[in-house]
Amino acid sequence: MDQIKQQIDALRDELNKHNYDYYVLSMPTISDFEFDKKLKELSDLETQHPEYFDPNSPTQRVGSDINKSFKQVPHKYPMLSLGNTYSKEEVTDFYNRVQKGLNDEFEIVCELKYDGTSISLTYVNGMLTQAVTRGDGVQGDDVTANVRTIRSIPLLLRGDDYPQEFEIRGEILMPWAVFEELNKEREEQEEALFANPRNAGSGTLKQQDPKIVASRKLDSFLYYMLGENLPTDGHYENLMKAKEWGFKISDATKKCKTLDEVFDYIQYWDTGRKNLPVATDGIVLKVNSLSQQRNLGFTSKFPRWAIAYKFQAEQATTTLLSVSYQVGRTGAVTPVANLSPVKLSGTTVKRASLYNEDYINLLDLHVNDQVFVEKGGEIIPKITGVDTAKRGIFDPKVEFTKNCPECGTPLIKDEGEAIYYCPNDTGCPPQIKGRIGHFLTRKAMNIAGGSETVEHLYNAKLIHNIADLYALKWQDICRLERWAEKSAKNLVDSIHGSVNVPYERVLYALGIRYVGETVAKKLARAFPSIDKLMAASVEELTQVDEIGDRIAQSIVKYFGEEANLEVVNKLREFGLKFELSEDVIAKRTNKLEGLTIVISGTFEKHSRDEYKDMIEQNGGKNSGSISSKTSYLLAGDNMGPAKLEKAEKLGVKIIGEDDFLGLLK
Ligand code: IVH
Repeated sequence: MDQIKQQIDALRDELNKHNYDYYVLSMPTISDFEFDKKLKELSDLETQHPEYFDPNSPTQRVGSDINKSFKQVPHKYPMLSLGNTYSKEEVTDFYNRVQKGLNDEFEIVCELKYDGTSISLTYVNGMLTQAVTRGDGVQGDDVTANVRTIRSIPLLLRGDDYPQEFEIRGEILMPWAVFEELNKEREEQEEALFANPRNAGSGTLKQQDPKIVASRKLDSFLYYMLGENLPTDGHYENLMKAKEWGFKISDATKKCKTLDEVFDYIQYWDTGRKNLPVATDGIVLKVNSLSQQRNLGFTSKFPRWAIAYKFQAEQATTTLLSVSYQVGRTGAVTPVANLSPVKLSGTTVKRASLYNEDYINLLDLHVNDQVFVEKGGEIIPKITGVDTAKRGIFDPKVEFTKNCPECGTPLIKDEGEAIYYCPNDTGCPPQIKGRIGHFLTRKAMNIAGGSETVEHLYNAKLIHNIADLYALKWQDICRLERWAEKSAKNLVDSIHGSVNVPYERVLYALGIRYVGETVAKKLARAFPSIDKLMAASVEELTQVDEIGDRIAQSIVKYFGEEANLEVVNKLREFGLKFELSEDVIAKRTNKLEGLTIVISGTFEKHSRDEYKDMIEQNGGKNSGSISSKTSYLLAGDNMGPAKLEKAEKLGVKIIGEDDFLGLLK
């Protein structure tokens, strides 16, 4: 076979693999820049050698995010992407090409390039009828039910001058703050973290349960209108119309008359974007006039009237010294790369996240490798690629550890899961200490002590499990180094005081895998005593709202272990609460059944948390934001004007503290 063909095949294979990593696994191993460079290399070769044309070449498609579980719908207009550029020269080239192609005056609209999931929305008679992902550009997933939960996407348009039918395209985004909170929660539950807001957002959009989507607070920006009867010939002017109709259009969108203005825009947003609440990865330039856009037309893949300029992600090269493994409180083992220190975006990077075994294999990581680290806005830097040319022949491949780095027990992995666990939950020190530490936390038993306290007591062999805490004597503690009589007594008092913590918090404090605060509350309500919970089967557990198979299995497994039963029994002997208090049960009513209540502001008679509990106690639902489904807004002092306005607009009834307490009488 001739050498060119071999080269083409190798590039196609490599690019196909990267496409898969990016779109299917959501785990890219090279930067977009590298990918585009290779794609261009292949595209050039194919142009020079048309005899090797192949309709299945990666140059012939835009990448697929098709997911089998959603209905596939064809796009009325293909959903194309944009050509990427990385330098001022390429932007100038684009500008000159447009000038030459039009031979007339033109304006350029500059927009931010939002780094999310692209979506196409169809509106008929002012109503959202369909939301479809890009898919392979020709057809995509019908995610209408999920998109309907996104607050910034209007279900009904305002005004009356919108076309009878049109499409509007844009990006679905998870704001940084939501992403960080979600990852924090996942870390606490020891679930795999999302690498960036884009993956978290697209993962959310592909959820089967719209309720989960709604809880994740996605946002959107729209930037492209399509249809037969658009209001004007100007892209910019149409977007401004769309804004009036209720769409979220970026305030950063700007119309420019000269190339200099375009460069000013690029320069401003290169730093300005760092203060935005959502991720961006570049600038998009578009010819404003739609008739001029039509004149310029499309190449086989991209519009000739638009281009993307991508910001450089800050990257550095360094050496992988070793991989270490951390064991969390539920036994989850996470690999961490130890790097030779390198400066990146103002901080020194010594470690990088490796997520799991699949990621290590994807990178084909070897010890001593020269690796590329990137901080593309992510909190933890990550390794995006390996410079294999610099690899020494004796550098060993990184093999995920087979045994727990702390206790030596062989690790296990559940089917379909990416994470390894150390099963020695009763003998593995970080798991024991982690569980005790979790037990002490404020939202659990609220005992005055942190991980350092646990470390001391555990190392001194005074505690081995959570039940041992209640047998501690201050006299034993104050014999330890750095402990005074007073602090030892305080700790013991605080431990004994915790026996009054209510059942649902005790349940959370046990640290059962996947049982977070909210799940614990739901369980306590459905199974008002631990005996009932212990007796529940997976089937019975999954009857409870929002308790899935995974949580149910974890609970059954927990109570199936002798050591756990022993701990629970000891705690029971020490007087901990293992059933809903008579009080709570007696106070339970259906008075608020079917009502959704939003709390806002500050109150005099009870705290917000108390009101929240009262709503749940009486069969109502507490929600964080106002919608047409809200029954009441419980308004206190200093409430935000936006909430009030929204409630008034939607005709939601606004009630005060006394009105609310009256409902419960
Ligand atoms: S216009 C035919 N404008 O970037 C042109 N795209 O590679 C349609 N994107 O698939 C796209 N911000 O997902 C356009 N202001 C913006 C954008 C934008 C982000 C995404 C979009 C598109 C990809 C282009």
